[in-house]
Amino acid sequence: MAQAWVQSEDGSYTAYSSEYDEHYHSTKDGALNESLKKHIEPAFALHREKDHLRLIDICFGLGFNTLLSLYYRDTYCPETTLEIYSPELDGELVASLVDFPYPDIFEPYRNIITDIATLGGYEDERTVITVDIMDARVAMSELEGEWDVCYQDAFSPSVNPLLWTQEYFADVARLMGEDGILTTYSTALATRLALYENGFHVYLNAGDGYRNATIASRRELVKYERVDMEHKIACNPSIQSLRDENLVL
Ligand SMILES: C[S@@+](CC[C@H](N)C(=O)[O-])C[C@H]1O[C@@H](n2cnc3c(N)ncnc32)[C@H](O)[C@@H]1O
Repeated sequence: MAQAWVQSEDGSYTAYSSEYDEHYHSTKDGALNESLKKHIEPAFALHREKDHLRLIDICFGLGFNTLLSLYYRDTYCPETTLEIYSPELDGELVASLVDFPYPDIFEPYRNIITDIATLGGYEDERTVITVDIMDARVAMSELEGEWDVCYQDAFSPSVNPLLWTQEYFADVARLMGEDGILTTYSTALATRLALYENGFHVYLNAGDGYRNATIASRRELVKYERVDMEHKIACNPSIQSLRDENLVL
């Protein structure tokens, strides 16, 4: 673990990793705002009709995506039950989260944060959370079942490429139900191509107050602007998705 807590533009704290030389969130978009706009709002909007949601949170990190999912559910659809599975390599970080300076809206979840940090998960009648201290690549190859959402929130493809390859997204695609979606901050063409090659439709997630992001969906969506992947590929004939075989494994 090699993190320092850093205040982001919306006032919420995130962390900086000296190991990866990256922040855990966009400091400009704000940690809480980024999680809300790029992951939680689209995930809940696109599964509004569901009374049980199964979410994969890649990677747990400071837990914003998991905690904000709880907050969003409790605020807007309290009847919905949530099941969240989140792999994370850094067990020391997760154990330290009892002391993290979270936004006030996460205060009601202090006991949940403590259970995750000390027991690796939390459960009540509306919520099941499992945080597995393990490599997300292995986790995705071993996980089973049908999931509604994957929050793809690893460090960037340049420093964490194994979590952005065509083969990695093949495992994620296998786990997605027919209306499953993947949300990510990455707008890299290589990332979108890896998703497209695995049968996802690719959409732009754009709005005020945050940088563009991507939504990949198993089914076609009407409320988001489609990224014309055939056109992008034609304009960038040398573009390739990241492949395991080209990375040092
Ligand atoms: C950008 S941060 C995640 C931010 C997180 N979603 C949050 O809300 O704080 C990336 C995280 O990926 C973890 N990580 C890096 N490589 C991993 C791997 N192969 N498997 C699981 N976790 C990994 C890092 O330890 C770090 O916590």
